[in-house]
Amino acid sequence: KNIDRASFTWQTPSNIALVKYWGKSNPQIPKNASISFTLNNCHTITTIDFVKKEKSNEAVFNLFFEGKEKAEFKPKIAEFFKRVQQYCPYILEYKMTINSENSFPHSSGIASSASGLSAIAMCLMSLEKELNADLSAKNSNKKASFLARLGSGSASRSIEGPLVVWGKHAEIEGSSDLFGVQFPYKVHSIFENYQDVILLVDKGEKQVSSTVGHNLMHEHPFAENRFIQANENLAKMSKILQEGNAKDFINLVESEALTLHAMMLTSNPYFILMKPNTLEIINKIWEYRQENESSICFTLDAGANVHVLFPEKEKENVGQIIESQLSKYCDKNQYICDTVGFGAKMF
Ligand code: PMV
Repeated sequence: KNIDRASFTWQTPSNIALVKYWGKSNPQIPKNASISFTLNNCHTITTIDFVKKEKSNEAVFNLFFEGKEKAEFKPKIAEFFKRVQQYCPYILEYKMTINSENSFPHSSGIASSASGLSAIAMCLMSLEKELNADLSAKNSNKKASFLARLGSGSASRSIEGPLVVWGKHAEIEGSSDLFGVQFPYKVHSIFENYQDVILLVDKGEKQVSSTVGHNLMHEHPFAENRFIQANENLAKMSKILQEGNAKDFINLVESEALTLHAMMLTSNPYFILMKPNTLEIINKIWEYRQENESSICFTLDAGANVHVLFPEKEKENVGQIIESQLSKYCDKNQYICDTVGFGAKMF
């Protein structure tokens, strides 16, 4: 089909890994399988206007972020288009105008690459669907995740929800290194509507970009054991999610977060990505758990912010503790309340 002009808008979420991806080989192949909760409130909304033009050798696009042209984001997106053009040759026949905005503050220390790149991938797939009406929704999502992965590994987990596995794993049916898949087994009801409050400890630029971080695993003395451990942890997590064992969930999630940071503490060069307030918060969470019948736990990304995870039924109590005791460790007392979500939405 010949299409001269088209415009698509997608909202895609951020995600938070329970078993972490840290270490990859080319082209964006993970060294171990990972699993994440898809988030609901932290998302990107992106519109791409496609206008037909003469075919060129590389993608031609303009990029606006929250209404302003953003030159500093262009190289990452240009690199993304370069990587995907062999799978989506039609992008070379359109001039693309990309308008993007995040629901969370840009400099909040929350990685926007997962939601940002998955949104672009969904817009490309919408055009592809117009060009080829036979493409099923299932295959379209699979390819969107495949494309998003080429931009940022964790973006492959930001197309569907509520739980997505990326990386080939013997015990997860249908799993692949090339795209994320929805966790294929029935999840215990305690994990329904799970809550994630993101405490914004440090809103600065990331100290270590994830590209640099993943590369640190190449010469890392503990890398091989870490990859084995992560795959074992994913098998354990699969069982926990199905059986609903809250204690085991807490242990595994917190251990994964600390192990991710341990990899950075022991790499060359080494990095401490936590801040004093990160540790204050962790200690408070442990104290609260000890003193109350609570399933609250924390996880971390490659930064100082803390994700506080807990079941929906604890929302009121934990909400109060966060407001009265934990928010004081946050930059300008800021935190974001989120819940587990269901993936990309078209407008
Ligand atoms: O997708 P990347 O290359 O930005 O890597 C993200 C890695 C972590 O966020 C630290 C862990 C994960 O699995 O999301």
